Amino acid sequence: MTQEELFKNLIAHTKEYGFIFPSSELYDGLGAVYDYGQMGSELKANIKKYWWDSMVKLNENIVGIDSCIFMHPKIWKASGHVDAFNDPLIDNKDSKKRYRADVLLEDYIAKIEAKIEKEVAKGQKRFGEAFDEAQFRATNPNVLREKAKADEVRARMSKALNDNDLVALRQLIIDCEIVDPISGTRNWTDVRQFNLMFSTQLGNTSDETGTLYLRPETAQGIFVNFLNVQKSGRMKIPFGIAQIGKAFRNEIVARQFIFRMREFEQMEMQFFVRPGEELKWFEHWKEKRLKWHLAIGLGRENYRYHDHEKLAHYANAATDIEFNFPFGFKELEGIHSRTDFDLRRHQEFSGKKIQYFDPEQNASYTPYDIETSIGVDRTVLAVLSGAYCQEKLDNGEERVVMKFHPALAPVKVAVLPLVKKDELTAVAQKIMDELKLDFNCQYEEKDTIGRRYRRQDAIGTPFCVTVDFDSLTDGKVTLRERDTMSQERVSIEQLPSIVEKKVSMKRLLEQI
Ligand code: GAP
Repeated sequence: MTQEELFKNLIAHTKEYGFIFPSSELYDGLGAVYDYGQMGSELKANIKKYWWDSMVKLNENIVGIDSCIFMHPKIWKASGHVDAFNDPLIDNKDSKKRYRADVLLEDYIAKIEAKIEKEVAKGQKRFGEAFDEAQFRATNPNVLREKAKADEVRARMSKALNDNDLVALRQLIIDCEIVDPISGTRNWTDVRQFNLMFSTQLGNTSDETGTLYLRPETAQGIFVNFLNVQKSGRMKIPFGIAQIGKAFRNEIVARQFIFRMREFEQMEMQFFVRPGEELKWFEHWKEKRLKWHLAIGLGRENYRYHDHEKLAHYANAATDIEFNFPFGFKELEGIHSRTDFDLRRHQEFSGKKIQYFDPEQNASYTPYDIETSIGVDRTVLAVLSGAYCQEKLDNGEERVVMKFHPALAPVKVAVLPLVKKDELTAVAQKIMDELKLDFNCQYEEKDTIGRRYRRQDAIGTPFCVTVDFDSLTDGKVTLRERDTMSQERVSIEQLPSIVEKKVSMKRLLEQI
C-alpha cells in the first residue's frame, strides 16, 4: 500500500469512528475547516492536557493564561502581521482560481523529483542485486539532467522570495510552463502579496479604525500580558507564560487534511530570559520539546530537527521539529529565539515601558524571549498517523487498531458482558459505575465479543474488561490488552489501580 493510499484510509477511518469530520458537511463542507467528533475531541483534550501539564505543572516558573481572540488592532501593527504576514498569490484568469506562487513551483519541483525516483526504480529493476543506488544517482544522465533542473528552479525561487521580487516569481512560473490544473492554461495574473489575517468590524464603527483581526497566533496575547503576569505573579526571570488557544489564517493552500487549516489551535510558551542567556535557553527548550514528543512513543526515526539557516530579522536562532507525516517530513513545532523584538515593539507602539527590574543585577532591561510553538491539530494528525495500524491476525482476520499511548487514548476502558444476560450485565454495569469516576469508559453489550473487541481496537481503547459466568463466583474478569491482545484474569477490586498505572498522564510526564 502506498503512503497516499494509507493516508486516504486513515482519513476515512477518522470519519467512520468519530475522530474528525469535514466541517459543515451537510452543506458540502468548508475548505480547510474540520470538526472534531466524539473520539477526536477526547484525543485532542488529552494532548492539550499533556502539553499544559508538561509546561505549567512540571515547571514552577511557568504559568498559563487564556487571552482573547480579539485584540487591539495596533497589536498586529506592532507584531508586524499587518505589513508582513503575507503569501505571494497568483490568479489564473481562465479558471478564476487563486494559488500560492511558491506552492505552484514546489509542486513543479516535486514532479521532477518523482521523475527521478521513477528513473531510480527502473534502474533497480534492471540491475537487480548488483544495483548501486548512490552511483546510479551520481552518473545516470537522465537523473542528473532532472536534478539540475530542480536545483535551478529551487535556487531561482528562493532568491525571488528572499528579495520579495514578485516579477521574478511570476517569470519563473512562465519559464517552467506551469499550467493551471483546472483550466490547463498559462493565462496568469501578476503575483501579489496577500495578507493571511481574517478581519471583521468592531461594534458600530465602519471605517478602518474599527477593523479587528482574528488572531493569527496566540503568542501576542502573551507578550501584551507580560507585565500583568510578571507583576501579579511576582515572577522572576527566567520565567515562562504558556497559552493554548484558537488561531485563524486565511490559508490559500488548504490541503493535507488537518495539517493546514484556516481555524486551528496552537500551544505556545514564551520563556523570558536575561539578554545574553538566550542561546543557552534555546538549546534547553530544543531538547525538552523533543523529549516531549518522543514520550508519545511514535519512534525517534519519525522526528528530526530542521535548523533554520536563514533567520527572520528578529531571531538569532530557530529550529523546527519535523514529523514524518504520511506525506513526508513537515513542521510540527517551531522553537525560536526571538530576542527582545516583541516586547520592544509593544513598548514602542503602546508608548508604555515594558521592562523588568532584575534584583540580582540591580538593573532594568527588556527580557529576551524563547518561543516554543506547536499546532494542536498537527499533533493530533501526528498521533493519528503514528497510531494507525492495519494488522493481519493469526486466524487470517484483519484488524485496524489505533495504537495510541494509553494516556492519550480517547477511551481508556471498555466494559463488556460476555453475553447479554441480566446476571452478567448487572456486574458489568457495577464495574462501569466504579471505573467511570476515574476514566473515560464505554459499556457495550451488543454483538459478539470479537466484534466488540474490533470496534474498541478501531478507536484505540487500551483495555477491554470482559465479564463472564466465572466472574459471578470468582470475582475476577478478563482484562484484554489492545496491542498484544493478551488476556489475563484479574480481580474486579484491582481493576482501577491496574488501569490507572497504565493510562495515567504520569507515564508521559515522567519521561520528559
Ligand atoms: N508564534 C509563532 C507561530 O505562530 P508558526 O510557525 O506560524 O509560528 C506555529 O506556527 C505552529 O502552529 C506550527 O508549527 C504548526 O504546528 C501550527 N500551524 C501554523 N499554521 C497552521 C495551520 N494553518 N493549520 C494548522 N496548524 C498550523
